[in-house]
Amino acid sequence: MFPSVRAEACLQLPSKGYSIIQRVPKTALITGITGQDGSYLAELLLQKGCRVFGMIRRSSYEKLDRIAHIEKDLELIQGDLLDQNSLHNAIALARPDEVYNLAAMSFVPTSWNQPVLTGEFTGLGATRLLEAIRQIKPDTRFYQASSSEMFGKVRQTPQNEDTAFYPRSPYGVAKVYAHFITVNYRESYNLFAVSGILFNHESPRRGLEFVSRKISYGAACIKLGLAQSLSLGNLEARRDWGYAGDYVRAMWLMLQQDRPEDFVIATGASHSVSEFVESAFSHLGLDWHDYVKVDPKLLRPAEVHHLLGDHGKAERVLGWKPEVRFEQLVKMMVDADLALLQRQISAGNSPAPRV
Ligand code: NAP
Ligand code: GDD
Repeated sequence: MFPSVRAEACLQLPSKGYSIIQRVPKTALITGITGQDGSYLAELLLQKGCRVFGMIRRSSYEKLDRIAHIEKDLELIQGDLLDQNSLHNAIALARPDEVYNLAAMSFVPTSWNQPVLTGEFTGLGATRLLEAIRQIKPDTRFYQASSSEMFGKVRQTPQNEDTAFYPRSPYGVAKVYAHFITVNYRESYNLFAVSGILFNHESPRRGLEFVSRKISYGAACIKLGLAQSLSLGNLEARRDWGYAGDYVRAMWLMLQQDRPEDFVIATGASHSVSEFVESAFSHLGLDWHDYVKVDPKLLRPAEVHHLLGDHGKAERVLGWKPEVRFEQLVKMMVDADLALLQRQISAGNSPAPRV
């Protein structure tokens, strides 16, 4: 059963000079539906009345925690960005109006350990998906999850849609490739293919290895006496952190426009890792200086020091702006981790601190 509100398609009847709003459910396919963004986007699309397919890769155990609450409303298809045939099958089966390509190897440090695999998933994966769309259903609208990591050693501040890229990691390099192949398929084949250049966005569903969640979870563990310290890398790095729930709205809006265009999505405010730490620990009544250690092993071979985005175009054209600000985001994540750990303790499970 799908929710009763349906996505709308407008059927024009020019001879009578008026239009009829015909309620037609749209079909969307999300790659990376088991990830942070995939889960929020799936919720949003279901609310909009879409039929939602999700592509998942085979694993020795199911990793559906983030979508367990909506799984009954989703149609899951097995597929992998490494396997062209599975992508053809996914497009042929779902026949989507919209494809959101969110799947990627998304953790920057791993991209130095697995640079070739990162290029395959995060870079060439986009080409494979675009080819499947071009050959099977070229009227499909395509969203590519581009990243502020492409700005890397930034050429100007703040960064906007015209800022040159200077990626600093194999992940960033792969994302630049995927970004430009999306532009190229739009220009070569007239596909409705767009890239959203999204700055860091977080939530209680963020993976535990990313710095925001590592801090919120680590601080909550310390508060509950489950850990004594938290090891981090570069405390000076600055990011433009937003809330994932806000950012998936922008993805959807980009595919509802008359013309395919790329957009920067950001909050327009940047904070350092140490400011994130300060905010999280003080929310719990703790002084972070007593607990946080810098571990040189967590420093990166090449760092992205400062990202700050200008979302002016998105505000003008899409009517999009962020709703959740930095302090709210930090509190939301810390409160969620505290509640999560307390639930685990009361259920008699002993939470495993990863700090
Ligand atoms: P995430 O939580 O790490 O999720 C990544 C998803 O990709 C998971 O569902 C994962 O599936 C899937 N995946 C990985 N390799 C795959 C493959 N070979 N075939 C099929 N699926 C594969 O990432 P996220 O934070 O939601 O980010 C979503 C996208 O936006 C990513 O492309 C990321 O690079 C990009 N992005 C993120 C941010 C951010 O701040 N979050 C900013 C800019 C851009 P499994 O569950 O099987 O591992
Ligand atoms: N992960 C992590 N762990 N990062 C740390 C730590 C630590 O212990 N200590 C300091 N940092 C610093 C990193 O050096 C980096 O400068 C910053 O915190 C943010 O790191 P991450 O949270 O891992 O995110 P990211 O900016 O590298 O990448 C994320 O954002 C990109 C958009 O700019 C990911 O979501 C990418 O997939 C995304 O494209």
